[in-house]
Amino acid sequence: MTEETLLKVENLSKSFGGVNAVENVSFEVRKGEIVAVIGPNGAGKTTLFNLVTGVIPATSGKITFKGVSIIGKRPYQIASLGMTRTFQNLQVFNNMTVIENVMTGSHIRLKTGILSSGLRLPNVYKEEKEVMQKALQCLEQVGIADLAFERAETLPYGNQRLLEIARAVAAEPSFILLDEPMAGLNPQESRNLVNVLKNMRKQGMTFLFVEHDMETVMSIADKIVVLDYGKKIAEGTPEEIASNPKVIAAYLGEEEAI
Ligand SMILES: Nc1ncnc2c1ncn2[C@@H]1O[C@H](COP(=O)(O)OP(=O)(O)OP(=O)(O)O)[C@@H](O)[C@H]1O
Ligand SMILES: [Mg+2]
Repeated sequence: MTEETLLKVENLSKSFGGVNAVENVSFEVRKGEIVAVIGPNGAGKTTLFNLVTGVIPATSGKITFKGVSIIGKRPYQIASLGMTRTFQNLQVFNNMTVIENVMTGSHIRLKTGILSSGLRLPNVYKEEKEVMQKALQCLEQVGIADLAFERAETLPYGNQRLLEIARAVAAEPSFILLDEPMAGLNPQESRNLVNVLKNMRKQGMTFLFVEHDMETVMSIADKIVVLDYGKKIAEGTPEEIASNPKVIAAYLGEEEAI
């Protein structure tokens, strides 16, 4: 493992009953990279994310994050090492304001306990103020700070997606996993999100993301990992992947199936 390797996945497998959702998959993500995971529906992309974030246990294989084995660790333990994610389906708390949603992302960092929060001790106010300021900064990073005090459900879909990313950033991670961040966005919103992610990469963030929108993948990914029926069938730069016969066949196969 090189010094720069952030995530290392080795021979990772997961089967559900008879289905090999992820089979013998290996790849690395290095610091500051944007790595895309692509593949037809049911290829195992979300399962891979669930394994890496500790939501489900692997059947076999190794996962190392920052040089530490995270196999068998609980999601909160993995999160505390500096990894957060967003979900394929939007998960926003509708009744909260935008900033409150983002603040929930910070809570793993809160030092003051529930007891003192209940008693409203002075430290709690100070800490809450800090969390709020931090949340505002996160909203600024994704470009929706002006909507901080709106109710989350009043935001258009594209902005709710940005809100989810701001919430992930609030946990101060070094690595963010995004499951289909562009799903449901119009072309302008997609381009905006690409710019947001590129700016975050400039500031040192590392991303692993699942995406069906090829234009986005090609415009932003440093490296692409292609899954098909749970197996890694290719890995390379966007140029390499675009001309890879196995990848083309996997996608044509999907079109034929439709
Ligand atoms: N909890 C589960 N129990 C049983 N089978 C599952 C479970 N989760 C996923 N699978 C199966 O594993 C395979 C991979 O599913 P997964 O959701 O990881 O695919 P995906 O690549 O994310 O697909 P999509 O592009 O549609 O989101 C599928 O055959 C799916 O039916
Ligand atoms: Mg999925």
